[in-house]
Amino acid sequence: MSEIKTIGVLTSGGDAPGMNAAIRAVVRTALYYGLNVKGILHGYNGLIEDNVIDMDLRSVSNIIQRGGTMLFTARCKAFQTEEGQQKAYETCVKHGIDALVVIGGDGSFRGCQAIAKKGIKCIGIPGTIDNDIACSDYTIGYDTALNTSIQMCDRLRDTARSHERCSVVEVMGRHAGHIAVSTAIANGAMAVLIPEKEFDLERDVINQIKKSLKIGKKNFLIVVAEGVGDAEGIAKIVQFATGIETRATILGHVQRGGSPTSRDRLIATLMGCKAVELLREGQYNRVVALHEYHIVSYEIEEALAMTKEIDPYFLHVADIVSI
Ligand code: ADP
Ligand code: F6P
Repeated sequence: MSEIKTIGVLTSGGDAPGMNAAIRAVVRTALYYGLNVKGILHGYNGLIEDNVIDMDLRSVSNIIQRGGTMLFTARCKAFQTEEGQQKAYETCVKHGIDALVVIGGDGSFRGCQAIAKKGIKCIGIPGTIDNDIACSDYTIGYDTALNTSIQMCDRLRDTARSHERCSVVEVMGRHAGHIAVSTAIANGAMAVLIPEKEFDLERDVINQIKKSLKIGKKNFLIVVAEGVGDAEGIAKIVQFATGIETRATILGHVQRGGSPTSRDRLIATLMGCKAVELLREGQYNRVVALHEYHIVSYEIEEALAMTKEIDPYFLHVADIVSI
């Protein structure tokens, strides 16, 4: 067993539904094992600015069902400098924090690596709606975000169908098309455009719509990942080329909010618990992950070197059913 006495927990990068459930699990597991827990506010900023609070059993009451993060989050440029990292380290020493649990994405795990070099033991928990942490089959927040985008597309379909229009929907994912592809399959989209795959608007969208028009289809849904962008521009081109009245909708940050689904609460709780248990076992500088329905962990360096692709079978299926 390790000599860790005090664990700090923070959320970093974009918030994701289920982060609160993960915080709760970290706090309750630490207390269960007789460890102290401190909450660090506003991501790595909280370490630089000494914004640290004591956490007890009750400080995480009534949050498991809430979206967002009770610890607030941030993208903290100062933490990318040696000066910022030194200040953060000094705050850890001041509060007796021997270990940090960081809930966030790849960038946040790079932050872990930086402070680990100074001697703070770290565990990363994958929390991002994008599902783009390579070492993990799943990231906290993805299911809730996906359910939101699917519900929003259902609504868009109602109006597109009524007006016999085409709806071009932009979903989140600057670098990742997981939300886009799954939304497209689950909503029966005509086409999906993602940053990971080259596309040709004429071949992949316009000709497909023309083909479907000939067999009587009258309303269309095109899903575009944020990383591809320009939903408005694409809508104009589609309207001009097909003659179908077309509207663009950018779903934006609605996808990041809302009460976490059962999947997000469950995975977040399992991962939060695992993070503390790893530290207790003397295993640190690791990222917790879901692998084939098991909670596992990888060294941060190994985790960051991994790559994750969009499952080609998902793309194949999306192609077949989009007619
Ligand atoms: P995510 O964790 O969702 O990928 P970001 O890439 O914005 O989000 O990273 C979150 C934060 O992690 C950054 O604002 C910064 O504070 C910290 N971070 C990112 N990269 C590094 C790095 N190379 N070194 C130190 N800290 C980093
Ligand atoms: O958290 C991931 C994510 O939602 C991406 O899908 C998106 O590109 C980005 O964050 C947007 O971040 P923000 O608007 O908070 O800067």
